[in-house]
Amino acid sequence: MKILVTGSNGLLGQKLVYKLKLDTTIVLIATARGENRLVDKAGYIYESLDITNKENVNAVFKKHLPDVVINTAAMTNVDACETDKENAMLMNATSVEYQIIALESLQEQNQNYKPHFIHLSTDFIFDGTHGPLTEDEKPNPLSFYAETKLAAEKIVQASKIKWAMARTVLVYGIVDNMSRSNIVLWVKQNLEQGKTINVVDDQFRTPTLAEDLADGCILMAQKKAEGIYNISGKDFLSILQLAHKVADYYKLDKALIKPSKSADIKQPAKRPPITGFIIEKAKRDLGYSPHSFEEGIKIMVEQLKRIKN
Ligand SMILES: NC(=O)c1ccc[n+]([C@@H]2O[C@H](COP(=O)([O-])OP(=O)(O)OC[C@H]3O[C@@H](n4cnc5c(N)ncnc54)[C@H](OP(=O)(O)O)[C@@H]3O)[C@@H](O)[C@H]2O)c1
Repeated sequence: MKILVTGSNGLLGQKLVYKLKLDTTIVLIATARGENRLVDKAGYIYESLDITNKENVNAVFKKHLPDVVINTAAMTNVDACETDKENAMLMNATSVEYQIIALESLQEQNQNYKPHFIHLSTDFIFDGTHGPLTEDEKPNPLSFYAETKLAAEKIVQASKIKWAMARTVLVYGIVDNMSRSNIVLWVKQNLEQGKTINVVDDQFRTPTLAEDLADGCILMAQKKAEGIYNISGKDFLSILQLAHKVADYYKLDKALIKPSKSADIKQPAKRPPITGFIIEKAKRDLGYSPHSFEEGIKIMVEQLKRIKN
């Protein structure tokens, strides 16, 4: 099986590459904008691919004819999407259209070619009035990021190729040459430096270890899953509870964590108050089995130790 991953320099992209390259039955094509930023460059093919460049998408897909495309690439900074709407729509939705059109056209040209497109989506497409949520909830985006991700979902669902969608929630993990932080590291690093942090107690999520999300996507590819799957962690926590667990785990000063409300934190993009996912469908159909939040922190600690050594 040939699997092509977009956005392979990103958090999920890197986890997918490091897992998939170990499977000798898979030909892996990792793709990202510009240079490959992974430390380990052996055991897979690397192609530079900007998914907002239609010709680039056509050429790379035509060259490799992947059986599965896992589309992790996106503009994931929610506030940046609010202020740079044109690029947000281009990166998160138009680029998905380019990929679908390229695969549809290759499928039309070759009756034996049946590509499987696995797309990454988000809990932010919901308005956050209640949770945790099943796959059947009705979306109602609150931010422009969410609008772009919902637009992409509609493009994928209308396609003529075999598709699946992994919706996920608040992903955390350690990767090579990290370009952006995540909630666990942010809490840890600030408390270690003795800094006070304001943490909301009115937003609820099921935080997702990046390795678990990668496993979910790989299971979707292996089981040739179709349709929408919630792929997140299993613990439903407020962001404040989450920060307390991080402080407890690292034995840091919890008094530095100041409970606050979303309304008091000035951010360009609105966040849904309550999301989190019910993951029964993924457990049942795919055998998806994520770690608990505490187990996830422990895995991150081991990875951090390895980076420091
Ligand atoms: N992280 C979360 O909490 C979260 C929650 C819900 C859903 N998701 C979804 O999960 C997916 C993976 O997220 P992630 O956490 O892995 O995000 P990430 O770490 O920000 O990675 C996204 C990657 O996409 C790349 N990218 C952006 N524009 C591109 C383009 N035009 N061509 C090729 N690559 C491009 C970025 O490249 P550069 O590194 O060069 O900028 C980055 O490496 C995304 O679809 C996201 O919307 C994430």
